[in-house]
Amino acid sequence: MSFRIIGTGSCVPAKSVSNDEIAQFVDTSDEWISQRTGIRSRYIAIEETTAGMSADAARKAMDEAKVSPEEIDLLIVATVSADRFYPSAACEVQAAIGAVNAMAFDVNAGCTGFLYIMQIADGFFRAGTAKKALLIGAETLSKMTDWNDRTTCVLFGDGAGAAVLEADDSRRICFSAGADGSRGLALECKNRPVNNPFVKNEYELDHTHMDGQAVFKFAVKTVPAAIEDALEKAGVTVDDIDLFLLHQANIRIIESVAKRLNAPIEKFPIIMQDYGNISAASVPVLIDDQMRKGMLKKDMKVVMAGFGAGLTWSAAVLDI
Ligand code: UT7
Repeated sequence: MSFRIIGTGSCVPAKSVSNDEIAQFVDTSDEWISQRTGIRSRYIAIEETTAGMSADAARKAMDEAKVSPEEIDLLIVATVSADRFYPSAACEVQAAIGAVNAMAFDVNAGCTGFLYIMQIADGFFRAGTAKKALLIGAETLSKMTDWNDRTTCVLFGDGAGAAVLEADDSRRICFSAGADGSRGLALECKNRPVNNPFVKNEYELDHTHMDGQAVFKFAVKTVPAAIEDALEKAGVTVDDIDLFLLHQANIRIIESVAKRLNAPIEKFPIIMQDYGNISAASVPVLIDDQMRKGMLKKDMKVVMAGFGAGLTWSAAVLDI
């Protein structure tokens, strides 16, 4: 038993911010950002929230899937930027869309989040404990960004992507996933410290910090290895893959992965120029983008891969 994607949707904030606009308040340029990352603009939340964008993307995905909210029995949101510590974004979405029969929870696995929740859903399908799952990757990273730090504020954006999955034993999916917490501080945002009547800590709310080069090196080494492992598990080769849907952090990472796999770069769709790095939302927004453009079609065999905070990674080989 595995699953089929039967509907997708996405939602981004109304405000798009260009590289030139960012260059008005930090020492950077469109040339540096676009050449080093491939990013030209990103969407930034003004009124939008993680749960609100999630619900919007979810409604579009359910409409396309022709599935009612009551039919959803598993609802998972991958996010590092839920609007509240609790309840979870997934429970907020459940209430907003009326998925009254769904178990609902969040997963924090950075930019790998959507791949992780696909693997979790696959486990539910295999166990026979879910028939229809609503998976969402959603972020408002802009609220965790230090807008004075040019090394990070040019990279991240906000948005949400959703997919409805249905149990289907005619499809195959193989994963290769992992984590290395010992390198976790390469990309972090601290929470509040302990603070109570017995211990007082002075603190300011933290922002995202990243050792960009360390994460870059991790990505270009780990992602091709994970993809090769997933391909081997699936018993297929790079040539059998129609599309490689990779987390959109940096075009140079994607070019390096394509080169290491000896796969044509044309098979790696790129959307980071319009969205920036939207962490857990990146892969589902890319899937939706490719569905809408007619590039991702039934019976294709594709690779999906994510990598990021944790450090975490995952690659999947699956039939569409
Ligand atoms: O999604 C989660 C996973 N995250 C990632 O995959 C991100 C991985 N890392 C990267 O994509 C890249 O490392 C970055 C895009 C973050 C940085 O690119 P880089 O080519 O590694 O640049 P760098 O950090 O080596 O910095 C090169 C220079 C430095 O100046 P000096 O020391 O050579 O004078 C930086 O201060 O570029 C400078 N710099 C900037 N200059 C203009 C750093 N950020 C900027 C900026 N504008 N925004």
